[in-house]
Amino acid sequence: MHEMAPLPALFKATGPLTGRVRVPGDKSISHRALMFSALAVGSSRIVGLLEGEDVHATAAALRAMGARIARDADGVWTVDGVGVGGLLQPEVALEMGNSGTSTRLLMGLLASHGLTATFTGDASLSKRPMNRVIEPLARMGAEFTPSPGGRLPLTMRGLSPAVPIEYRLPVASAQVKSAVLLAGLNTPGITRVIEPVPTRDHSERMLQGFGAELTVEQDADGARIISIRGEAELKPQAIEVPGDPSSAGFPVVAGLIVPGSDIVVENVGLNPTRAGLYEVLRAMGADLTLQNERTVGGEPVADIRVRHSRLTGIEVPPDIAPRMIDEFPILFVAASMAKGRTVARGLEELRVKESDRLALMAHGLARLGVSVEETADSLTIEGRDGAPLGGNEVTAIAAELDHRIAMSFAIAGLVSSAGIAIDDISPVATSCPGFADMLASLAA
Ligand code: S3P
Repeated sequence: MHEMAPLPALFKATGPLTGRVRVPGDKSISHRALMFSALAVGSSRIVGLLEGEDVHATAAALRAMGARIARDADGVWTVDGVGVGGLLQPEVALEMGNSGTSTRLLMGLLASHGLTATFTGDASLSKRPMNRVIEPLARMGAEFTPSPGGRLPLTMRGLSPAVPIEYRLPVASAQVKSAVLLAGLNTPGITRVIEPVPTRDHSERMLQGFGAELTVEQDADGARIISIRGEAELKPQAIEVPGDPSSAGFPVVAGLIVPGSDIVVENVGLNPTRAGLYEVLRAMGADLTLQNERTVGGEPVADIRVRHSRLTGIEVPPDIAPRMIDEFPILFVAASMAKGRTVARGLEELRVKESDRLALMAHGLARLGVSVEETADSLTIEGRDGAPLGGNEVTAIAAELDHRIAMSFAIAGLVSSAGIAIDDISPVATSCPGFADMLASLAA
């Protein structure tokens, strides 16, 4: 995984992008498909699974706890689940690589099993805060020995039977929400999560699909109240994973900013809790047309036709942030090429992703000659109205083990005057294997 040698890459201006590409399966849905299948009684089938490093980390951990997971030659995955409550004591540390989603969701799963497990991760993951899940899971009875600051490596001991809780999310986080719901699966009675600001709802949709007793209501203030009845029996499913809207954001923005481009990005999941980027781009004047709209695996999906567009800066409404939280790096690249000013606020969560994305994007864009202003939780960008980024020499960017930083500056490279050299694009394999080939096929 990230013990691999760094993989430097240079991205340079190209002619118009044309053709059709398909992005790999949705990362969030892929993790959940494996985890819920591993807890079902019987054999589930998954097609379209993201075969990226993060998802492989989840699969390896589930295997270490007794699930049988296999891939056939056609790319169909089969998972033989152990049943809720049936996970086995792992004999090895669970190596999470770069994956925050694997770590936090599996911590939830383990919290209500009487098992002890150690979680380790790469340099990026070992800096990320785990107290946000430790806190509610400890209330349910799990015990934690984290590294200083609530970080990995961390050892935990789950409790069975655990104690059901009602938990109001202090941060808008689908990972924290899902961790508590997963713990609730093997906890007697009702576990409840109150979510003041909606975040991606894949866990809720899929748990219902697997037969869990899960309800979603709204309180008077519009908060979502999600209740799950524990000691559930999950039924095996056939799952089709749609393409990842987060990965699709990169070719879509490339098509918008490279002059003369006209491309189609196929099979993009457009769950409303994930599609904020596309709303914002449209409001900036992006020419995006949805084709072949359909439902895949219970999620809305479409092919997106993208034509080069003259974008205009925008004030991004802060309440949209949780619905496009992973897309701000690539939105900032689009904003740099727009006419006028873009302001995005309410972005404090960007500082605790695979890197401090607010700082890395602000520094990198500034080095490319873009006028940016960074505060604790906002970024203001003066767009260059189509003028190429950077100067007469190649601009070097350090991606700090963050796949989305690497991909964002790769796209910026396509509209640079002299090219952008990224120190290491190997982390792209966590979420979007084949990224460089996909761009090359659009440029060919
Ligand atoms: C994810 C939730 C988000 C997102 C991450 C995937 C998920 O994290 O950034 O890439 O699958 O639940 P937070 O819950 O920390 O916002």
